[in-house]
Amino acid sequence: MDCFRIEGGHRLSGRLSVEGSKNASLPLMAATLLADGPVDLHGVPELSDTRNMIRLLTELGIEIDESEPGRLRFKTVDPTAVHARYDIVRTMRASICVLGPMLARRRRAVVSMPGGCAFGSRPVDLHLRGLEALGATVRLDGGDIHCEAEKLRGTTIFLGGPFGSTVLGTANVMSAATVAEGTTIIECAACEPEIADLARLLNAMGARIEGAGTPRLVIHGVDELGSASHRVMPDRIVAGTYAAAAAVTGGDIEIADFPHECLLAAIDRFTQIGVSVERLAPEEDPIRCRVRVTSDPDLRPTIITTQPHPGFPTDLQAQFMTLLCLARGNSIITEKIYPERFMHVAELSRMGAELIRQGPTVMVVGGRPLVGAPVMASDLRASACLVMAGLAAEGETIVNRVYHLDRGYYRMEKTLNDLGARIERLDDRELPDRIED
Ligand code: EPU
Repeated sequence: MDCFRIEGGHRLSGRLSVEGSKNASLPLMAATLLADGPVDLHGVPELSDTRNMIRLLTELGIEIDESEPGRLRFKTVDPTAVHARYDIVRTMRASICVLGPMLARRRRAVVSMPGGCAFGSRPVDLHLRGLEALGATVRLDGGDIHCEAEKLRGTTIFLGGPFGSTVLGTANVMSAATVAEGTTIIECAACEPEIADLARLLNAMGARIEGAGTPRLVIHGVDELGSASHRVMPDRIVAGTYAAAAAVTGGDIEIADFPHECLLAAIDRFTQIGVSVERLAPEEDPIRCRVRVTSDPDLRPTIITTQPHPGFPTDLQAQFMTLLCLARGNSIITEKIYPERFMHVAELSRMGAELIRQGPTVMVVGGRPLVGAPVMASDLRASACLVMAGLAAEGETIVNRVYHLDRGYYRMEKTLNDLGARIERLDDRELPDRIED
């Protein structure tokens, strides 16, 4: 298994540009199951999650042409395949987003039920409730979700759950509703920019979706969807992670393709903390602009509560925890989307952070120096926060199990090394003190 050896204390400077969004790409790729003609996607990032989605869609009878760099062409060649198997679903929960498109286009879908993950149980009841409301019958058999519907019919669906809206649930129900008979209204739809990006692709394929990016979606069903070409939006979480990484080193970096408009809650917290994210050319597209990130010599503490978009994203909670370890004073972080998403707390504590957790809230006692140590990555964003801690720490940090990181960041060590970091990717067998499972 690969790990990172990080020599801390090097200030980041220079330029980078943000890759296409993983969380936009996965439902966009799944939506190609709905199309009668070929669909082109530009800017799908090269990550293990997008590779897994390619594998899954290939098993589901989609031919994927990768001959042009940065462009994938999806074309259905076998519409009879309907089974998303456990082997793939267990490696990537987001496989669930093939359920709605496959049901709508092939009238039947069998998708292995995703299990829990490092940050708690992750139910899919809202996805299933939404599809049932459209007329599907749903049953669970042998760990697989079986969904069937001769015809889907538009209706009004409330998609809110105990933690707010559901992102992939909205993607599933919205995708299925595009070819349902009549009009579907989804109330409490996810407002995440990745859902708006999906609606843009579906509309380009011939769907009639109104209200994307708001909590009320109105979808007028059409008979069929056809070819389209679409450029994936930049990854807002990657953008926020690199901005935070620069800040923990007191760096000065320029980021291109920065989705500023999608990161207002994070930018608001950066400003409070003393990190400036300045747009360099205000006339540029607010979803793909250039920004300069710099920080005050003394960072200030703050209060962060994760919420559905446009609130502060849960996918940046861990990275901001590292940043707040360096602030002068105590901060409070409350996780309202995944109350158990705190696996990084114990690992940061191994590096000298003082973190006091009570349920979904962590008090970050700022100003304690971080000291390099071997640590264990538990999920994608926790891994990013540990790499950042390694950049800021005195001495050497080993971040084990960086395969989590490769799910969502394209060669993070190269991007950071190009900015002046010192990170080596090693096989953990090369280390004298390897950590056993
Ligand atoms: N929930 C339910 N029932 C459901 C679905 C969700 O109760 O049927 C709950 C969840 O347990 C959670 C909340 O609703 O408490 C929100 O979950 P959501 O369904 O929105 O999450 P998701 O769609 O499975 C996506 C991202 C996650 C991101 C969340 C929240 C993708 C591929 N994944 O997951 O990204 O954290 O939205 O914004 O888009 C990551 O990239 O690291 C990541 C985990």
